[in-house]
Amino acid sequence: MQITTKILDAVKQSTQCLIVASFDGGKLSAAANAINVADARQLETLLKREKFDGRTAQSLLLLIPQGIAADRLLIIGFGAQDKQGNVSADNFRKALQKIADALKSTPCSEISIVLGDVSVADKDAEWQARQAVEILIASQDRADSLKSKPAEPSFVLSKVTLGFPKANATAAAKGIKIGQAIASGVSLARILGNLPGNICTPTYLASEAKKLARGQSLLSVKVLEEKAMQELGMGSLLSVSAGSDQPAKLIVLEYKGGNKKDAPIALVGKGITFDTGGISLKPGAGMDEMKFDMCGAASVLGTFKTLVELQPAINVVGVVAASENMPNGNATKPGDIVTSMAGLTIEVLNTDAEGRLVLCDALTYTERFKPKAVIDIATLTGACVVALGNHASGLFSNNEALAQGILKAGQAAHDRAWQMPLWDDYQKQLDSNFADIANIGGPAGGSITAACFLSRFTKNFAWAHLDIAGTAWLSGGAKGATGRPVPLLVQYLLDNQ
Ligand code: BES
Ligand code: MN
Ligand code: ZN
Repeated sequence: MQITTKILDAVKQSTQCLIVASFDGGKLSAAANAINVADARQLETLLKREKFDGRTAQSLLLLIPQGIAADRLLIIGFGAQDKQGNVSADNFRKALQKIADALKSTPCSEISIVLGDVSVADKDAEWQARQAVEILIASQDRADSLKSKPAEPSFVLSKVTLGFPKANATAAAKGIKIGQAIASGVSLARILGNLPGNICTPTYLASEAKKLARGQSLLSVKVLEEKAMQELGMGSLLSVSAGSDQPAKLIVLEYKGGNKKDAPIALVGKGITFDTGGISLKPGAGMDEMKFDMCGAASVLGTFKTLVELQPAINVVGVVAASENMPNGNATKPGDIVTSMAGLTIEVLNTDAEGRLVLCDALTYTERFKPKAVIDIATLTGACVVALGNHASGLFSNNEALAQGILKAGQAAHDRAWQMPLWDDYQKQLDSNFADIANIGGPAGGSITAACFLSRFTKNFAWAHLDIAGTAWLSGGAKGATGRPVPLLVQYLLDNQ
């Protein structure tokens, strides 16, 4: 998709579809007003007749607009304006998400959006352009690659022009560039997330990681096999893959855009390509959604895709712990005690709490890179979905500056996280009679005790954990991976160049 910015003249712009804003109370943006004036105030009359009041994401598509050069005119409501005339970031995004929906039955492939007329509270033109690009590109993602006859999509965008005034041209161009790179990372994370477990195996994830590095001088990828993990003493990780015919893989990515001496930031992803629960088998209903249990890994790979496109001057390490969680005859049993790479023994009281078992060894492995910060990303607990729903990722950290940096990045990227406690009070729930630590902490505060488990393995570095069980995918009619938290991760990395 070709995306550019220029100064748009709403009346003269020739385009397949011109998109302009209106606001609460049917208030017209400058562009909408210019069109109204050019057509003897017909637009005003029409909007009144159609009871168009400019509320958020309301839309009206005119197929034969009068008095302007555009083939079609789409008016979108951006909702309430504050005293300064700003709309909210949420409403801005909702309004832009409406575009694909409003045009889905048209053959438009080229659109022009007058965005300079809309100002967003606490956000600049770069943010607006970036969000618009992320939303428009995501709207084109299809999830039907495995249908034998995918439906012929009607609305396929090939060219988008974002209208901004001259003063904002540089900011908008920058937003477009970053937005495009984030959108490719998000798309990759969504594609991998949506793939079924019989295709997206640990081996598949490893080959996708290698593909990312092909022809890239700044990115290298290596894959550790089970034998190498055995030699490193990763008894915890290997206890998860024990019950599966698919071998586990530890995928290590190194992006070196910064100085040799600069300590890297490490991203560690949970890559359970299917989570049956193991011997502590999950109930059948909805179990298909456990193909999404590798979305943490997918967000790491997506973030590296964005890094390769943007080539920022930073060093980043990625470690993906990829495994299936299956219940065959070799599977780990409840009560089994395994020894982690860090030397701590773990009583596996529930084989369905497998994410922490693969992550603890991956986190220990990450120490060798002497990272300045480590962020793990995992679809770790159903309890996190209960606590925060689908809007915020759960954030836990042993370092307040790191936590604040991640929260800020989430706000800026509109891919938000919410901090949860990691107090010592919760740690005793993990006591075991037979080993150093148990892998479950009972029903109370399940997402917190999961984070507490990981905290036992992260004492030597600044660490944060993102529980994305609620944010990585949607269920129901819109079932599918979201690509989160790629925007947050990229923002955090760019903030720390
Ligand atoms: N992958 C799941 C977490 C999950 C569950 C994510 C539902 C999204 C929706 C994880 O491996 C798991 O099974 N966690 C258990 C932990 C429990 C056994 C302590 C859970 O959340 O039930
Ligand atoms: Mn599980
Ligand atoms: Zn899991």
